[in-house]
Amino acid sequence: MIGIADTRLTEDEIAAAVSVLRSGALRQGKVSDAFETAFAAKVGAKHAITCANGSAALHLVYMADFEPGDEVLVPAFTFIATASMAAVCGVKPIICDVDPHTFLIDLADAEKRITPRTKAISPVHLFGNPLNIDAVQTFAQKHGLKIIWDAAQSHGALWKGTDIGDFDDYVCYSFYPSKNMFVGEGGMVCTNDDDAAHRIRYLRMHGQTGKYYHTSLGLNYRLTDVEAAIGLEQMKRLDAMLEIRRRNAAALTAGLSGIAGLSLQKVTPQGTHAWHQFCVLVEPAEFGCTRDQLAERLQAQGVASGVHYPRGLHQQPIFEQMYGKCALPVTERLADTILALPVHHGLSAADVETVVDAVRKSAGA
Ligand SMILES: Cc1ncc(COP(=O)(O)O)c(C=O)c1O
Repeated sequence: MIGIADTRLTEDEIAAAVSVLRSGALRQGKVSDAFETAFAAKVGAKHAITCANGSAALHLVYMADFEPGDEVLVPAFTFIATASMAAVCGVKPIICDVDPHTFLIDLADAEKRITPRTKAISPVHLFGNPLNIDAVQTFAQKHGLKIIWDAAQSHGALWKGTDIGDFDDYVCYSFYPSKNMFVGEGGMVCTNDDDAAHRIRYLRMHGQTGKYYHTSLGLNYRLTDVEAAIGLEQMKRLDAMLEIRRRNAAALTAGLSGIAGLSLQKVTPQGTHAWHQFCVLVEPAEFGCTRDQLAERLQAQGVASGVHYPRGLHQQPIFEQMYGKCALPVTERLADTILALPVHHGLSAADVETVVDAVRKSAGA
């Protein structure tokens, strides 16, 4: 079976983790500090702050810089944490529709939803496809908004050749096993703001600003040095893994072009995609079967696939309950027709060919 992700660690990554285990210094310490320094240098940010996971990264930003009653614009087509980490802080996520081609937040739709309480926008570089960062920055400046980039899926994505981690105000990463970079559970907040970085560091540690001296309510969101050791070691192969993802995506794009009823995510012009996921849209009338039938046919040919996401955030029961129902037609269409195919760094060129053949054989079969 050709899997949808490759979450295996290398022998060097395992050895780095074992070395921390042997040292007995398991908690967040020197290795975590070294991981932060290396990650900040890699993406070009002034500060990188490790934390327990990508959700914690977003949560810490909302705790550090926002008040209950504030509003943040978020795309409907994303993982729940993009919105829920605001909501748990009393910040209302204003759920916006997305572009049908790039699958990224639609700024024209977002603009209609701005109120005097709107304080931020949290765009997601979905599946590794970078937003047009210039457009988002112009939008944010026009409306006086902060930007919280959800970069959970986009390690290594570039905007006009610059790493997406190099932009203000906050860039939040996840190191969950399926991500482009993975340590188990882990996250990182990048920012160029000294004060915000300081606040996030002490919120990560129970609001402690001196030894057993707590000046605000915080959480224990520390990363352990075991995970940091894996991350530090894995940074050495990040570029090579990204190169394989890009090679695979190019082969999939070429191999799947021209199939009636099958369309691909449009890469943002001037952006460099990091291919966390390679997603296709299936139009049943032209393709010859539904998205779910395609998934079954691929499975029968030894190819795994995934549905990200089967519903928009506005269709999640908790948000319907909290904020009421609404219709977001582009997101709903994507949710009904999208399918992720294997693109990860563990695939050989022959595996990718198998995926292409399996999709072609499924069309109208
Ligand atoms: C877009 C997005 N945001 C946030 C997160 C949260 O990251 P984590 O699972 O590390 O908490 C994820 C992870 O799946 C994600 O895909």
